[in-house]
Amino acid sequence: MKPTITSLLAFGLLFIGIIAVTFIIILSGRNKKTSYPDFFRWAHRIAGYAFFALYLFICYVMSLKITSDPVTWSAKDVVHAYLGLAIFPLLVAKVCVVRGFKKYYQRLPIYGMIVMIAVYLTVIMSGGYFFLTLARSHYIVLLQQGRQVKVNISEGRKVVQTKCISCHSLERVYSHLKTESEWREYVARMRAKDPSRLSDLEELQALGFLVKNLGINEAEMNIQTGMKIILNKCHLCHTLERVFQQKRTKSEWIKVIEMMRTFDPQLLSDSETRQVNYYLGSVLLKQEKDSDS
Ligand code: HEC
Ligand code: HEC
Repeated sequence: MKPTITSLLAFGLLFIGIIAVTFIIILSGRNKKTSYPDFFRWAHRIAGYAFFALYLFICYVMSLKITSDPVTWSAKDVVHAYLGLAIFPLLVAKVCVVRGFKKYYQRLPIYGMIVMIAVYLTVIMSGGYFFLTLARSHYIVLLQQGRQVKVNISEGRKVVQTKCISCHSLERVYSHLKTESEWREYVARMRAKDPSRLSDLEELQALGFLVKNLGINEAEMNIQTGMKIILNKCHLCHTLERVFQQKRTKSEWIKVIEMMRTFDPQLLSDSETRQVNYYLGSVLLKQEKDSDS
């Protein structure tokens, strides 16, 4: 289930809780007698049962969510889970008092208040936080099975930073710039190693983050891209001075890069090579005397 839907459910729970509380306050809290006490009593009861049912349903959905991926719990998730679970015994205690222990009736408003505070904190911490970050997120549009999908990059960063670190360091990820199709291939390959680790949505979000921040745009030659690739890759066998202290013609640079690729065929992909050559040909250019094409 998508986070948008679970967050809406959570706010629904808060809303029903507030309604239930409002009815009981009107019934018993006012100074003068309320005109239709039965209506308010029943309305409170119905809202209360709806609340309990929705609460159980959300617990069920959450249990599916955490068991599908038991590894990555942030501190926020833990506090959220504890608060959410604490609501259950409070509800049971409240129902017991109403049904069988009338002596404690006086304390019910206090129980109700505690339940509502717990619900409020639980919901605000997850759903509230979610909608807040949603409003501040950046997006990228990706093609997914022929459909254009808007992908949340901020969520993607979270996915990469929590899920791509279990087998290797993030450095391994960040030291690559790739085209969209290459990233697709990589992320799919990574997911295939442990399929339950990423959901379809997370795979897409990770892809969005990678394409946006570590992507090579094939349609556009970019000096920054070329420089990043050189900084990441060209210090492996010799210093970077070897690269930056020289000026060459375009064709000479192309030959040098070809040579580097023969030293290590894995060094650069074709798209990286084009960007590197573009950088070298723009920034470290020696004017050609007689043009050789
Ligand atoms: C289940 C373990 C596992 C997970 C999870 C995983 N990787 Fe990997 N990754 C590997 C292994 C093993 C290799 C080396 C073999 C290969 O390239 O297939 C690798 C290699 C890579 C490489 C190439 C590194 C290099 O120096 O050539 C990149 C880039 C990469 N992973 C990115 C990612 C990203 C992005 C994610 C998260 C979506 C991720 N990985 C999650 C196991 C994993
Ligand atoms: C696999 C190891 C390796 C990597 C990675 C590598 N180089 Fe080299 N590079 C060499 C070697 C070995 C030489 C020395 C070759 C020689 O002197 O004939 C060299 C020499 C050079 C030279 C000097 C060539 C000359 O004729 O004086 C340049 C410029 C250069 N590399 C650029 C790069 C760039 C740009 C990258 C990144 C795309 C890179 N290298 C990555 C191994 C590497």
